[in-house]
Amino acid sequence: MAAQIIDGKKVAEDIRAEVRDRTARLASKGIVPGLGVILVGEDPASVSYVTGKEKACAENGLASFERRLPATATDAQVLALVEAFNKDPKVHGILVQLPLPRGLDERKIIGAISPDKDVDGLTPINIGRMSLDEPCFLPCTPAGCIELIRRSGVVMDGARAVVVGRSNLVGRPLINILTRKSINATVTACHTGTRNLAAHTREAEILIACAGKVGLITADMVRPGACVIDVGVNRVEDSTAKNGFRLKGDVDYAAVKEVASFITPVPGGVGPMTITMLLVNTTLSAERAAGLA
Ligand code: GUN
Repeated sequence: MAAQIIDGKKVAEDIRAEVRDRTARLASKGIVPGLGVILVGEDPASVSYVTGKEKACAENGLASFERRLPATATDAQVLALVEAFNKDPKVHGILVQLPLPRGLDERKIIGAISPDKDVDGLTPINIGRMSLDEPCFLPCTPAGCIELIRRSGVVMDGARAVVVGRSNLVGRPLINILTRKSINATVTACHTGTRNLAAHTREAEILIACAGKVGLITADMVRPGACVIDVGVNRVEDSTAKNGFRLKGDVDYAAVKEVASFITPVPGGVGPMTITMLLVNTTLSAERAAGLA
């Protein structure tokens, strides 16, 4: 039987409705959750992400404050913007869009974000808290994957989960989050050094592909009845597409959906969740600042 398609747009909209309830409650107390966004350079994908984040803020009762610098900016210039946002009481969350242009010290810049405003969950302090299973802001794309699984009714407690990919933004945090006591999955971390990848993925009751390789996961690599989450957003040239490219996942969707029990499409699966979880984290930060959470 073909898999149930996990509709990321629908789940994202359900969560955004919850965010709107929360921002309305804050508004009645004169508080508007604020997201400070720093964009350095003009990478088209980053510009498009940032535009999407600001639009989502406006639509859901949050404010956004954008600061742009040219790709030639220095560490000191970017750090000055981070510091200003750290001090600004109207800003409850700070997002430095990644990747930063070459030459900038990403670790230093991300590390300068106040942990209490690190709604992207990328500072070393937040990552430490996550690893220690302490309360923290969870990085948005991994948190979005978890919400998709949870809201599909798939049991994570005790499940065998396999994560394919170990990026700092997605794979590593996922490996971490899935083992939290509140989630309690058993996790295998696969990456480019993994021998016989298929032997691992075939064991997965929950399979999360975040390797950034088009069509890496084929149907023969998937356990019948698995829940398959595809984080891949690979741009594949296509002259018939409006922008000249199409987004393709890491999973061979057409074939795998005949084997899995749940599957996320690309686009329309994990993608809409990332910005949504940023709204959730920023709203939570504002609630915490006001002593309401
Ligand atoms: N670039 C791609 N995804 C992300 C993300 O989740 N956060 C930031 N800051 N940059 C990104």
